[in-house]
Amino acid sequence: MHAAGEPAPQRDATGRLNVGSDDAPTDASSVGDVRQPGLPPTFDAFVVERRGEEVVAGVRRLPTAKLPAGDVTIRVDWSAVNYKDGMVTVPGNRVARLSPLVPGVDLVGTVLASDSPTIATGQVVVVHGNDLGIAHFGGFAQFARVPASWVVPLPTGLDPRRAAVIGTAGFTAALSVFRLERHGIRPGTGPILVTGASGGVGSLAVSLLAARGFDVVASTGKASEHAYLEALGARAVIGRGELDQRTERVLGPETWAGAVDCVGGATLASVLRTVRYGGAVAASGLTGGPDLVTTVYPFIVRDVSLIGIDSVQTPADERRAIWSQLAGAWPDAVLDRMAMDEVGLAGLPGALAAVLHGGVRGRILVAPWGGDASPVDNGAPGRPGPGAG
Ligand SMILES: NC(=O)c1ccc[n+]([C@@H]2O[C@H](COP(=O)([O-])OP(=O)(O)OC[C@H]3O[C@@H](n4cnc5c(N)ncnc54)[C@H](OP(=O)(O)O)[C@@H]3O)[C@@H](O)[C@H]2O)c1
Repeated sequence: MHAAGEPAPQRDATGRLNVGSDDAPTDASSVGDVRQPGLPPTFDAFVVERRGEEVVAGVRRLPTAKLPAGDVTIRVDWSAVNYKDGMVTVPGNRVARLSPLVPGVDLVGTVLASDSPTIATGQVVVVHGNDLGIAHFGGFAQFARVPASWVVPLPTGLDPRRAAVIGTAGFTAALSVFRLERHGIRPGTGPILVTGASGGVGSLAVSLLAARGFDVVASTGKASEHAYLEALGARAVIGRGELDQRTERVLGPETWAGAVDCVGGATLASVLRTVRYGGAVAASGLTGGPDLVTTVYPFIVRDVSLIGIDSVQTPADERRAIWSQLAGAWPDAVLDRMAMDEVGLAGLPGALAAVLHGGVRGRILVAPWGGDASPVDNGAPGRPGPGAG
């Protein structure tokens, strides 16, 4: 993350990184001129900045006047670390479309000011998707300002911290499960495989499927997380290497009624070869790589469907409708178990390294107003760096 070949960024007395000659973002598209009465003049944010071929990241104090334009100003109570947040810190990534950028593709917060008739001051809201944390300042900051169309009121009965555990990962898991159900897959149809099961999307998919009565088999690369996945509701847990690897065969044993795949690559190819006749795979991710080498046989011989899942551009009405179904969708105790760790902005470098190295179990929450956080142990097995995404 840190720029090699140039002087290490200096820390000020509070430990914040001073990474630029001007603390303010310079990209005109990110800079609104809306001055919000009642906001402090500055706020803390975790900023990622491209410097030539390098990426420099750290906590900076930004002028509040530099919040982006938008209808709704939010005090960020919670964010969470997603794989995409890790990707924006990788030199040469094609995910971040703004520099300097405040990452954080999801947030839960309290509305401080609103120009929208449908969003009230004091309301607790969820924001994720669209350009958040990619081309518009995101959740790794004490304040955010976004268009009203991105804002989802917190569903009644959902606690804000648990909503952050769900976040974009849970929304994606829910989209995947709902699309499999729309395909006709029901509890009793047969086993449903979840790949990348110990990560954010995977953990939330395992537990959501189990809560809805499905027979869930979890695939994980972490031998240490079998008990965790069983506690989330998996009937069985298999190692990542146990998926059918006989790539010389165009079809494998008909095993899965359906699958939620957030890994892609060779894993998705193996899953497609082993789905039962008429089954479906909901594919959302690429932690195992963006390439998919397969044949048409699963589709034309077994009537298998490959369903693409995108949570970023979900239309506002559908986004709100899906969130309204998420209160109570997971048992509270399960969501609490999934919160692997909680970090402040200063703890983000460790957390982002962990997500990039496949070292996350469940979700890492971010508390932008929290105190110093200890870096997350990222000693999990490494994997190739992410591709474009
Ligand atoms: N389409 C969408 O709208 C959408 C929305 C959210 C996320 N995503 C994508 O979904 C994926 C998961 O996101 P996340 O936030 O849940 O990430 P995460 O918390 O880091 O989980 C990813 C999991 O993938 C598995 N994995 C890691 N490296 C792997 C490898 N080399 N081969 C196979 N499996 C590997 C690991 O689980 P195990 O160790 O248990 O195998 C890891 O915990 C990412 O690609 C993300 O970009 C897409």
